[in-house]
Amino acid sequence: MGKCPDCDQWNTLKQSLTNKPPSSWTPDNQTSAPITTPQAQPLSQIRREKPQPRIPTNINELDRVLGGDKSSGFGLVPGSAVLIGGPPGIGKSTLTLQVCSSLASNNTRVLYVSSEESSTQICSRAQRLNIPAAAADSLHILTDTNLPRILQQAQDIRPAVMIIDSVQMLNSDQIDAAPGSITQVRQCCAQLVSIAKATGTAIIMIGHVTKQGSLAGPRVLEHMVDAVLAFEGDRHHAHRLVRSIKNRFGTTSEIGIFQMTDAGLAQRPQGQGVIADPDNITGPGCVLCPAMTGSRCMLVEIQALTATGFVGAAKRKVSSLDASRLAMIIAVLEQHAELRLADRDIFASAVGGIRVVEPAADLALLLAIAGAHFKRSAPPATAIIGEVGLSGEIRAVSRLDQRLKEAARLGCTHAIIPARNLESIASTSLKIQAVPNVNAAIQLLA
Ligand code: TYD
Ligand code: MG
Repeated sequence: MGKCPDCDQWNTLKQSLTNKPPSSWTPDNQTSAPITTPQAQPLSQIRREKPQPRIPTNINELDRVLGGDKSSGFGLVPGSAVLIGGPPGIGKSTLTLQVCSSLASNNTRVLYVSSEESSTQICSRAQRLNIPAAAADSLHILTDTNLPRILQQAQDIRPAVMIIDSVQMLNSDQIDAAPGSITQVRQCCAQLVSIAKATGTAIIMIGHVTKQGSLAGPRVLEHMVDAVLAFEGDRHHAHRLVRSIKNRFGTTSEIGIFQMTDAGLAQRPQGQGVIADPDNITGPGCVLCPAMTGSRCMLVEIQALTATGFVGAAKRKVSSLDASRLAMIIAVLEQHAELRLADRDIFASAVGGIRVVEPAADLALLLAIAGAHFKRSAPPATAIIGEVGLSGEIRAVSRLDQRLKEAARLGCTHAIIPARNLESIASTSLKIQAVPNVNAAIQLLA
């Protein structure tokens, strides 16, 4: 309106925004901040608050991925929104129900909202997971897909942690779009994120992934939430990896290792079932590499196979390795070690489902290919570490001491390392062979 209907004057109206408080609640242990108009202020005048203590899920493998430090502990940040994505049947519902059980056993009030399964289905899963009776009182289950109704219930229960399984199935009649449409999912997600911020409730949303492996629905879901975790693994193996793709409150390099058992997901902090056993790795084309995944070192078996192919149409395939590093290593082998690989198909993989993409695994991959080509094995129980440079030199790697320690702990007796690292390493029980270039390394193949 240009004209005021009260005083009949023109251009006297001023626009102002009112703060409509969101329908919100406060979990027992927190007080929500009063809603005020935000004011710009110099950075120096902003009071640094002590970080709020995190809510530990007490599932260590998950807590580490969620991030944290000594002062605030590890786990969920109050008021944060976490999106967990994964293919169907991987165990997302199982993991989140276990999180609920663990939290509820500590008297943390949790609300598990399922829009895909009935209460009886969840109850029978809970039985399978042996959820303790002590947890059953603090754990609330709701099966609904309507967001306003869900929020109404949440307002009554006031949970400290809320799980939405899954965000793609939510809809709201206040949003003018067809149920299941991208607009609905996006708006529901946005509403949940703002509720989390306003109330201090940590919200975990489960998202579906497409065949290509990215989160279904708009990419914007990933932008809206504070952390995105990917739940990976394959149907043919029992182990599952939780990896953080985005984390506003922690690093994104940590992974959590689980194994699907008859009674739910069991933690595998030492990587049992995933990491390689030095005693069983022999034969041309199989080598051991202590690779870093986040702050943890894991002994991974790297395999390569070369087979007769056709010049110009030779296949180069990798699984759980970096395809461009494979191409680079093949070029180095051709140029600096005089291997003729133009008419060889080359296949390489990191066994166990852990993706190894760091340059420190170059030398292991190179020796696997050279070993497969010459039908010569790497020395037994030998950890191989080193980055390969374009001129055929072996470059130094980081955190060598940690890698050697882990290799020794798991039963390796020897190690092949870059000559450039030799001065910097601490004493180790492994017998060390330092190599300056790729030719010296290939000489070590039996
Ligand atoms: P689920 O958590 O339903 O997967 P998602 O929610 O990601 O679709 O887990 C499904 C699979 O896990 C199912 O095929 C059965 C298996 N499973 C077990 O092997 N052990 C168990 O204790 C549970 C609860 C499930
Ligand atoms: Mg599910």
